[in-house]
Amino acid sequence: MYQIVISGGAGFIGSHLCKKLLNEGNTIYCIDNFISGSRTNVEGLRDNPKFHLIEHDVSQPLSTISDRFGDIQYIFHLASPASPNKKSERSYINHPIETMLSNSIGTYYLLQLAKEKNAKFLFASTSEVYGNPSVSPQAETYFGNVNPNGIRSVYDEAKRFGEAMTWSFRRVQGVDARIIRIFNTYGPFMLKDDGRVVSTFINQALDGVPLTIFGDGKQTRSFCYVDDMVDGIMKAMFVDGTNGQVMNLGNPDERSVAEIATIVKDLVGKSVEIVHEELPEDDPMQRKPDISKVKSLLQWEPKITLEEGLRKTIDYFRNA
Ligand SMILES: NC(=O)c1ccc[n+]([C@@H]2O[C@H](COP(=O)([O-])OP(=O)(O)OC[C@H]3O[C@@H](n4cnc5c(N)ncnc54)[C@H](O)[C@@H]3O)[C@@H](O)[C@H]2O)c1
Repeated sequence: MYQIVISGGAGFIGSHLCKKLLNEGNTIYCIDNFISGSRTNVEGLRDNPKFHLIEHDVSQPLSTISDRFGDIQYIFHLASPASPNKKSERSYINHPIETMLSNSIGTYYLLQLAKEKNAKFLFASTSEVYGNPSVSPQAETYFGNVNPNGIRSVYDEAKRFGEAMTWSFRRVQGVDARIIRIFNTYGPFMLKDDGRVVSTFINQALDGVPLTIFGDGKQTRSFCYVDDMVDGIMKAMFVDGTNGQVMNLGNPDERSVAEIATIVKDLVGKSVEIVHEELPEDDPMQRKPDISKVKSLLQWEPKITLEEGLRKTIDYFRNA
């Protein structure tokens, strides 16, 4: 069994990853400053003596906390606000500088730790590095179409910088590192106000208010259920041959936003209207991962259908 650092472990995806790795008997050092996650996400893990919750901002030097852990074999760097919702207190739009620092200086400090401990490193990047893509589906070889100073650039460009930093440590310092590009993920423990279509539609349908579609609803999204994502993240770290690989992780099942609205409405079972509003700035028109690389490299592909995942997520939102 291993000693593992997970930055952002009190967030949506991180908390599921902590749980899964703890269940396998590993010791987890979860580093989080709760800027967009919360203690309640990991409340159920606090009784496990192998779970260590360390409140710390990864964009500050780790020397103040490094005496809390001894040997470490793996570092998963997930710490970053991830929601684009300008109305949410926890979004990267409302924490632009913190977001840039977690993915830049935070990545630098965690890579230094990886170098010092001879630990394997994984950087959680995003499909947003592809920006508003001119090709679909997006393969890892696509360089992207990112607006460098648009409202979302604080996130997109920070992740691009984080990727470059990760590769620099690999090339120059010999750190064993991999990059995953996560596409839209959903499921229990996601932020209720993350502003993405799944949570927005579920909230609206449960509240019995009209579902709002931005634009004509023909823009597409593909959503990966969190259990599938965590399985993919673990494989990206633990499968042999992933050092130096950039890997898309997501579900290629592409649906239009209008179709997703109808499915959510039907699953919640309330008769609500669907209305249209103006498309926000930099809202991508198309998002679909090409996962052929990870299918062969990791033997991974999502198993949970959109309908099944939405049902579980709606149950969670009903009781949250
Ligand atoms: N959820 C998605 O669909 C999605 C898509 C693409 C990429 N990602 C990436 O996956 C990772 C996890 O996303 P998530 O959806 O779980 O988001 P989240 O906001 O729920 O989790 C991120 C966690 O990182 C913590 N954090 C942020 N900045 C920090 C800092 N400076 N120091 C310490 N902790 C810090 C937050 O408090 C939170 O607990 C992020 O890096 C995100 O960019 C997520």
